[in-house]
Amino acid sequence: MSPILAIETSCDETAAAVVLGREIASSVVASQADLHAPYGGVVPEVAARHHLGTVNAVVDRALDDAGLALEEVATIAVTQRPGLIGALLVGVSTAKALAYAAGLPLAMVDHLHGHIAAVWLEPVALDPPFVSLIASGGHTRLDLVTDYARPRLLGQTIDDAAGEAIDKGARLLGLGYPGGPALERLAREGDRSAHRFPVGLERRSRDFSFAGVKTALLYAVREAGPLGDRARADLAASYQEAVVRPLADRLVAAAVAEGVPAVALGGGVAANGRLRELVEERASGEGLLVAVPDRALCTDNAAMIGAAAQFTEPVPWPDYLGLDAVATASRPR
Ligand code: KG4
Ligand code: ZN
Repeated sequence: MSPILAIETSCDETAAAVVLGREIASSVVASQADLHAPYGGVVPEVAARHHLGTVNAVVDRALDDAGLALEEVATIAVTQRPGLIGALLVGVSTAKALAYAAGLPLAMVDHLHGHIAAVWLEPVALDPPFVSLIASGGHTRLDLVTDYARPRLLGQTIDDAAGEAIDKGARLLGLGYPGGPALERLAREGDRSAHRFPVGLERRSRDFSFAGVKTALLYAVREAGPLGDRARADLAASYQEAVVRPLADRLVAAAVAEGVPAVALGGGVAANGRLRELVEERASGEGLLVAVPDRALCTDNAAMIGAAAQFTEPVPWPDYLGLDAVATASRPR
């Protein structure tokens, strides 16, 4: 099997991995979360500069962990879009330079196709067809996957991403950033039926909206005045429910409507225990298989980019440089 070296720098994780088919030979993720925490969100310029300082070491580590030299790699893969432009540029430039120097083809991967392809890797190793839900700090979408090369968008958020709504809700309740894990912990102590928060868009929709529930929480917090522990936990539980319930409902409804036998989860929000519980509950009622990769494969990582790369036509050496001058350069091997 031909080893792929994959690089991911679209947001606040500098990541590199080596994958061989469905096997992950190594996966290194350097998170910048602590760096951005004081700002309550990712600062694009800070992210880009930090990627620049970290990416080479992360790539070296991924190769080391896999026991490979760059010369033994067959293809380089990199996240091309979407993401923070400065952050993406660091990964793309690094990948182009490495691929050019080593005489390798370069696969330019869509970050969302990467999230979707995480379930293709071992040990989940899910084959199509299925409906995928990717919910993260930047994205919330449903895709019908009959072919990993061409996921078909079924629905998406019309305003905030689910993770963004969770982070903003967590902040309103006085929790730190990123708020997901803290909100989930607090929600466990509360009553999820204490408040009736609105669910965005009508039930039959495949799109999502979280602006309304966010505003409803803002008003509920203002109305409540100083919050005791119990009141805060009830708000957290009710709010989390209003965000994750439509995710689970619409994922399973879409799978039933499309007549596929499985659903898959991905993105940082897939770590949420209540979301998983609801998806399991709904899916088992419909006889659907539920595929969820390890938490490390749900959040941003490069192994998923290496997976999606295997469904992406690579650009031959040295066409990805787009320079006439190098078209006549001699290939190193
Ligand atoms: O995929 P991810 O690591 O980064 C991108 O946004 O690309 O997702 C991060 C998001 C954050 O909004 C975070 O609050 C949310 O995933 N998250 C969670 C949990 N863990 C992380 N949301 C709900 N429950 C969790 N346990
Ligand atoms: Zn992501």
